[in-house]
This record gives sequence, C-alpha cells and structure tokens, in this order.
Amino acid sequence: MVFGVILAGGIGSRMGNVEKPKQYLTIHNKPIIIYTLEKFFTNAQLEKIIVLCPNAWIAHTKNLVRRYLGETDRIVVIEGGATRNETIMNSISYIEEHYGLDDDTIIVTHDSVRPFVTHRIIDENIRFAQEYDACDTVISATDTIVESVDGKIISDIPDRRKMYQGQTPQSFKALKLKEIYQALTNEEKEILTDAAKIFVLKGQKVHLVEGETFNIKITYPYDLQVAHSLLEVNGKC
Ligand code: CTP
Repeated sequence: MVFGVILAGGIGSRMGNVEKPKQYLTIHNKPIIIYTLEKFFTNAQLEKIIVLCPNAWIAHTKNLVRRYLGETDRIVVIEGGATRNETIMNSISYIEEHYGLDDDTIIVTHDSVRPFVTHRIIDENIRFAQEYDACDTVISATDTIVESVDGKIISDIPDRRKMYQGQTPQSFKALKLKEIYQALTNEEKEILTDAAKIFVLKGQKVHLVEGETFNIKITYPYDLQVAHSLLEVNGKC
C-alpha cells in the first residue's frame, strides 16, 4: 500500500510569536495544511493519508479536514512525535497496527508547510521509492554553499555543481526505514534530524527526485508573503 504522510507535528517557532502552529495559518482564508492536503487527497495513488499533528490540535485538524474535504475515511489524523523523525515513526507504527507492514508499504512523507508540491513530484516519489527503496526531492543549489565549522571562518566551499537543496516529499519503504531507525543509538537519533540522512549514513542509496523552486517550505514570516504572492500569480495553489 502507498501512504501519504503529512508531517504537522511542529510548532513553528521560527515563524515568531503567532497564535497557532504555522501549518494552521491561512493564505487567502484557507489554512496552509489544507492546501497541502488537497494535493495529496487528489492523488489517486495514495490509498490513505495520515496527518500527524500536536495532540492539542487533533480535534481542530479533524474539523478542518471535514470542512474542506468532506467526510472521508481516506484521511486519518493522529498525534505526531517530539521530533520530525519521531513523527515519521509514529506514522509507521500506525500503519503497522492497522494495515501491517510489508516490502510494498511505501510512505510519502511531506512537510505540511510545503503547499506547492505537484502531482509530478508525488508520482515520481512513489515510483522511485518502489524501485529504489528511498528517495528525496531536491533542487540544484543556485547559490554557492559555504561551509564554516565555527561560524566565523570558511572551512570549505564545495563544488556547487554537486550541491542540492533538500525539499520534501521524502519517500521510503516503511519497513526498511523502521529497521534502520530502530538500529540507531540515541546519540545517532539526535544527530540524524533528516530521514534521508539515516539511509545515507547506513550506506543505503537514496535516489534524487527533481523538485521545483516554488516548492518552498513556509518557515519565516517572509515565506508567508512569498506564498501569498505565488498564489496570486498562479490564481490558485
Ligand atoms: N514536524 C513534525 N513533527 C515535529 C517537528 C516538525 O511533524 N516534531 C513537521 C512540521 O510541522 C513541519 C515540518 O515537519 O511541517 C518541517 O519542519 P519545520 O519547518 O522545522 O517545522 P517546525 O518544527 O514547526 O518549525 P520550527 O523549527 O520553526 O519550530
């Protein structure tokens, strides 16, 4: 089975002192998380969509789903975890409990705050995860990436042609991700904040899916303004 996994367990601290987690802020009167969910909901390849959010926001999220997408048993809302990876692991536990896990269980994990994802990106994620076990959506780095170990002096300037910027979705064979994650030490879990990095550090191949420059993550108030403008230019999300 192929599952969409919408990661909405964060609180959006970098958005500043807003009254709710950023995924519930609205653009043109519609919550960001709904724009994102609509993309997943209208993709027929995704058999179930699991939305993971803070416990205190579960009822609100269920209400939003009902209001914007109607009564549906294709979407479930459950509690996220303390970290982004723990949120992903909660989705796998839910899948295991309700549907069982096998080699054909694919999860397409996506930031709830990336509403501009396209069907092409989702479709390629599903295909690549089925074929290669793991894939990550990226775009070529446009700026030169500068590395500094101490934050004061440049330690390296890697060749830009080999640099990419990570986006989401990141998609995996769920059973494999679970096995690799469970084998990590607590220390490794703390360092490995990115699910694709877990695969890479364990010597597993992660395939690249080409993203889009407009597939932005809404992180800061500035991104919210950009998202407003993108919607105005495109007419709709
Ligand atoms: N996320 C999650 N579970 C967590 C932390 C984050 O599902 N424990 C989700 C966020 O809700 C978001 C996505 O992961 O959709 C990307 O993370 P980020 O932009 O860092 O979101 P926040 O953690 O909410 O933001 P901040 O770091 O500013 O607090």
